[in-house]
Amino acid sequence: MKVLVATEKPFAPAAVRLIREVTDAAGHELALLENYTDVQELLSAVSDADAMIVRSDKVTSQVLDTAPKLKIVVRAGAGYDNLDLEACTAHNVVAMNTPGQNANAVAELAFEMMLYQARGGFGGKSGKELRGKTIGLHAFGNVGKYVAEIAKGFGMDIYAFDPYISEDIITSAGLKLCRTAEELYTACQYVSLHIPANEKTKKSIGYDLLKRMPDDAVLVNTARKEVINEEDLLKIFEERPDFKYLSDVEPDCKAIFEEKFRGRFIFTAKKMGAQTEEANVNAGVAAARQIVDFFATGNQKFRVNK
Ligand code: 3PG
Repeated sequence: MKVLVATEKPFAPAAVRLIREVTDAAGHELALLENYTDVQELLSAVSDADAMIVRSDKVTSQVLDTAPKLKIVVRAGAGYDNLDLEACTAHNVVAMNTPGQNANAVAELAFEMMLYQARGGFGGKSGKELRGKTIGLHAFGNVGKYVAEIAKGFGMDIYAFDPYISEDIITSAGLKLCRTAEELYTACQYVSLHIPANEKTKKSIGYDLLKRMPDDAVLVNTARKEVINEEDLLKIFEERPDFKYLSDVEPDCKAIFEEKFRGRFIFTAKKMGAQTEEANVNAGVAAARQIVDFFATGNQKFRVNK
């Protein structure tokens, strides 16, 4: 079988080497398409592939139409909003993700941004510490759990809201349970987002929630820019000079932030949360193993389409 690794944002070399070891050992052929700039390159690379590993690369009907042999696509990562799941199903393609494999890297980035902001970008002026501050985890999945662990080490006061898991999971982790998002945003100076981007969550973080945050509020977004209502965020920034936004990827309204709100935001140019060698190895190798296992035994454990 031909397994294509199609990553516009490449994995670390060690991850590619280890993915190749997994596919070689199973007798599959590995093809690599990295740093591509035009979707045509992806269309031609996938045309004879039986399986594909992607990151945030978009897997659309057009991609699937040009891949008649494709049986499985694995998103090496957690969020699969880049996969057109209905189109995958219509093309008889199994879609999977690799939950948890890059979660620690994302959690560390949340803290890297928080620390850099708290110390004023290392510009020489007195900053603030994280110890004793409140942090709210908006969702307590794989990334939220690592953020909580790190926050404990920093001596932060940790709250969590997640209507999709049992309350025991939050309380037994030693966190303060919030039963509504409103409660979380009201209690926490820092709010760290760990929700996926889907029809329910897109633009769901808006004025009503953000206005509740205490003084010196910091919204940390290592999830997806799409979950933010950017018009509302701009409104809050106009009204509250104390409000900060740290985001792993630039918002669509970046130009306005640069013009009006210098010093109150950090944006990464490219999504950097999962961009560590360890996360690349974990997610890439997991994806390769899932593909090998799927062809060998039919295992569909991490399937995300119906
Ligand atoms: C994820 O959903 O796993 C992360 O956002 C990582 O995305 P990336 O593989 O494009 O870095």
